[in-house]
Amino acid sequence: MKLLALLSAAAAATGVSALPQAQPQQQTKYNSFTVMSARSASPIHLLPLNAASGGFYLGLHNASSYCPEQVSKLGACPPGTETVINAGANSLDVSVPGGQQIYIAPSGALAFTQPHSAYVPAGSVVGAFEYSQPAGASFGYWTLPGSGLIACPVPEAATWQVFAAWNNATVPSGSVGDCLGFDALAVGRNGSAGAWEYL
Ligand SMILES: *[C@@H]1O[C@H](CO)[C@@H](O)[C@H](O)[C@H]1NC(C)=O
Ligand SMILES: *[C@@H]1O[C@H](CO)[C@@H](O)[C@H](O)[C@H]1NC(C)=O
Ligand SMILES: *[C@@H]1O[C@H](CO)[C@@H](O)[C@H](O)[C@H]1NC(C)=O
Repeated sequence: MKLLALLSAAAAATGVSALPQAQPQQQTKYNSFTVMSARSASPIHLLPLNAASGGFYLGLHNASSYCPEQVSKLGACPPGTETVINAGANSLDVSVPGGQQIYIAPSGALAFTQPHSAYVPAGSVVGAFEYSQPAGASFGYWTLPGSGLIACPVPEAATWQVFAAWNNATVPSGSVGDCLGFDALAVGRNGSAGAWEYL
């Protein structure tokens, strides 16, 4: 709750579109981060971003993750409940060999590669995300320079699916006009992996 209050106050103070000026030589270093959406006075203000079913969602309580039984027996499974992104901004923070890359599918949907596979559909955009946290700031930003991010309602579910803010995105409701732009606040962490793997 303390963190939520802090993020809430900071997001209100900066406004949703006021990104901090880049300060290249002054950054706080973390090895990974989780993401919270910020768009004041909207249903998507301060919801955690979670990976599930190959995509990214706001409004899900937990990430969708898996840890194999032989790892579990050793007590070596990461928590797997939160969605953690590597500081490089373009992959999930997982233990599974080969890792899991984050990309933008041709539909505009944010997506991630399946465990043990580097497969990315033709026409996808890879390596487009950035992460920065100015020194002294209590949180940073996960950004998609040049487009930004939108959250699109999933009909009959209390969730929002995350897409690149493209006019031509193929969204669940059928209309990009139903989507809301948001800032992705990055909460830095220095822990071990977020999950064995996300599914
Ligand atoms: C996180 O870990 C890195 C690498 O060990 C270290 O350089 C950095 O200072 C740590 N950041 C914080 C905020 O503790
Ligand atoms: C979500 O994660 C929390 C914390 O680990 C856990 O207590 C809860 O049962 C999980 N909820 C679901 C729906 O998996
Ligand atoms: C959709 O728009 C994006 C951004 O303008 C562009 O990069 C992409 O090629 C477009 N996709 C299609 C299928 O036209």
